[in-house]
Amino acid sequence: MKNSFTLLSTKSKSLKGKLSVPGDKSISIRALLLSSICFGNSKISNLLESDDVLNTLKSLKSLGIKIIKKKKFFEVYGNGGFFSQPSKDLYLGNSGTGLRLLAGLLSTRNINVSFSGDKSLSSRPMMRIIEPLQKMNISIEHNNGFLPLKIFNNNDFSIPINFSLKLGSAQVKSAILLAGLNTIGTTIIDEKLPSRDHTEILMKYLGAKIIKNKTKILLESPNFLKPKDIFIPGDFSSAAFIIVAVLITKNSQVTIENVGLNFFRTGLLEILKKMKAKIKIFNKRKVNGELIGDLMVLSSNLFSISINSKIVPRLIDELPILFVAASFAKGTSTFSGIEELKFKESDRLTTMAEALRNAGVKLQLKENSLSIKGNKKQKGGNLVLTKHDHRIAMSMLIFGLAAEEKIKIDDKSMIKTSFPNFKEIMQTINARISYVSK
Ligand code: S3P
Repeated sequence: MKNSFTLLSTKSKSLKGKLSVPGDKSISIRALLLSSICFGNSKISNLLESDDVLNTLKSLKSLGIKIIKKKKFFEVYGNGGFFSQPSKDLYLGNSGTGLRLLAGLLSTRNINVSFSGDKSLSSRPMMRIIEPLQKMNISIEHNNGFLPLKIFNNNDFSIPINFSLKLGSAQVKSAILLAGLNTIGTTIIDEKLPSRDHTEILMKYLGAKIIKNKTKILLESPNFLKPKDIFIPGDFSSAAFIIVAVLITKNSQVTIENVGLNFFRTGLLEILKKMKAKIKIFNKRKVNGELIGDLMVLSSNLFSISINSKIVPRLIDELPILFVAASFAKGTSTFSGIEELKFKESDRLTTMAEALRNAGVKLQLKENSLSIKGNKKQKGGNLVLTKHDHRIAMSMLIFGLAAEEKIKIDDKSMIKTSFPNFKEIMQTINARISYVSK
């Protein structure tokens, strides 16, 4: 649909159905990167075909990796870690994960590479990966800690580090581990605030010598990864929008199948349960080391909640939609220690606070915290400035499903970075989200 159209959501009820959400973005990117360095071919099924993942895929192709889309899977022709020198910059679009992980992986692979991205990615901090990589003796050029970034042919000289990671960031952890895969010796990361462990799980599944000991991750290298079939679980972060939509609309019941339930991704489920959400988890099982399952969600009368920094890495991408849930809950919810939200695709703390305030929600925004006074009746009726952030766009459209008046977003184009068929899936369960001219 052309750019002259955007999306509008209207008060809805009786959301009903059974569905699957598209593949997980974090795991899709990791599966592409790690299978590209295996010795042989891997088949990846249920790969997320969103802009963020496709930008990683295109970058790998321009590094000489053959990747072919077949009917039921993508076949990646792993090259054992040998990449060819790309003829131009690698463009990662909007994807912080694609960029930071690929930079880590390529930093010990004997090539010179420059990275670029869109406006949002160009304003996101890169010192968080530059510092540890420099400690590994990797030479990097950067623009005062921002893009463009250039890494130089360093693999003969990289050294393993013992790094204490204070930031609860899986992207930083993964960049170090991917660089460590080709650094002789043992790379150690001591994680103060544990974050999603998809990189560790997939590395282990493909045969890397990686272990976890309390808060420490130890990776012994060199490693020779063996190709395997990989199934990408449904993205819990996409499911989160549907979960909250069902909870806050009347007379709704939806089942979501094959969702990734990795412990470090599902903090939202724990919080929603404390808010008295009716959610049942069943059919739990493991695929390629990742826990997956089915969820049944019912309309619920939610109660307020308080959260602090400890759980934040486990629900970082779900905070915007959790703010929406809190807006319709009984009582005042408080969210503290959430400053990392400022460094996402937009400053999600300010962007969400503005959008909710304009929709009539009573809230208080402080430096690193937010409190929201919930009410079953919220006004809505505003145009949301999404700041080109996919999760702001989807969160506020879900808000519109329970608000008195319609919610329109200024731009729908970014939704395809993570959840390309968001509108279509929402429509299959009766959610009133439709195209409207800008
Ligand atoms: C991601 C880690 C998180 C998250 C992002 C995906 C990943 O970022 O917000 O959407 O796949 O590793 P940080 O590591 O910067 O917290």
